[in-house]
Amino acid sequence: MSEHPPTLSTERLVLRELRLDDAPAVAAGAGDPRVARYLIQVPSPYPISLARRWVIARTEWWSLGRGVTLAVAWRARPDVLLGTVSLRRYARDRRAELGYWLAADAWGQGIATESTRTLVDFGFRELVLARIYAQVLAGNTASMRVLEKLGMVSEGVKRQHVRKARRLHDVVLYGLLRAEWGPGDDDDDR
Ligand SMILES: CC(C)(COP(=O)(O)OP(=O)(O)OC[C@H]1O[C@@H](n2cnc3c(N)ncnc32)[C@H](O)[C@@H]1OP(=O)(O)O)[C@@H](O)C(=O)NCCC(=O)NCCS
Repeated sequence: MSEHPPTLSTERLVLRELRLDDAPAVAAGAGDPRVARYLIQVPSPYPISLARRWVIARTEWWSLGRGVTLAVAWRARPDVLLGTVSLRRYARDRRAELGYWLAADAWGQGIATESTRTLVDFGFRELVLARIYAQVLAGNTASMRVLEKLGMVSEGVKRQHVRKARRLHDVVLYGLLRAEWGPGDDDDDR
């Protein structure tokens, strides 16, 4: 595995390595109450010092084989972080958990769908995963829609699974198997 994670490009976007100077945008974007309310472990407000630690930990994921986290930006403005997408890899089981968030100003333009689709393709093709899944807080309709557009299917509800804002929340599990992944026809039995 190379030292640095890949840079992936889509029609409109670039998914690039996170940098320490992204921390203020991570803190502001993910810590926005409109975003943080749907993220299981993100506080609001989100201190920049904590965002810096998060960037360092997520950068280390790649070198340790634990997965990948990439900044999402417009191709024309690669320095301006709009959000992040990630795969947390469990190599022994050939599965990874997909995570993502976007700054609220960037919602509603198909950015989450375009960026997660590219990362899912990368996960199946380059990380040779057998399964990619996501866990969504109940009521997060936009996120469930993104996962459905990726071809993921709902696999059930973990009732009262996480505590957030002094309340227990149900979590909906979504998953996509390698055999169900569009471009994967040629190597289904890997
Ligand atoms: C979830 C999130 C990433 C979606 O980003 P986005 O770029 O706006 O998503 P897209 O534009 O690619 O797709 C959103 C889809 O949900 C739909 N949608 C949006 N809000 C909706 C709502 N309240 N009810 C139903 N559908 C909704 C959109 O119409 C679109 O579907 P369509 O293409 O069929 O019209 C963004 O809202 C976000 O960051 N939310 C907070 C963090 C989060 O939830 N992260 C995921 C944790 S599992």
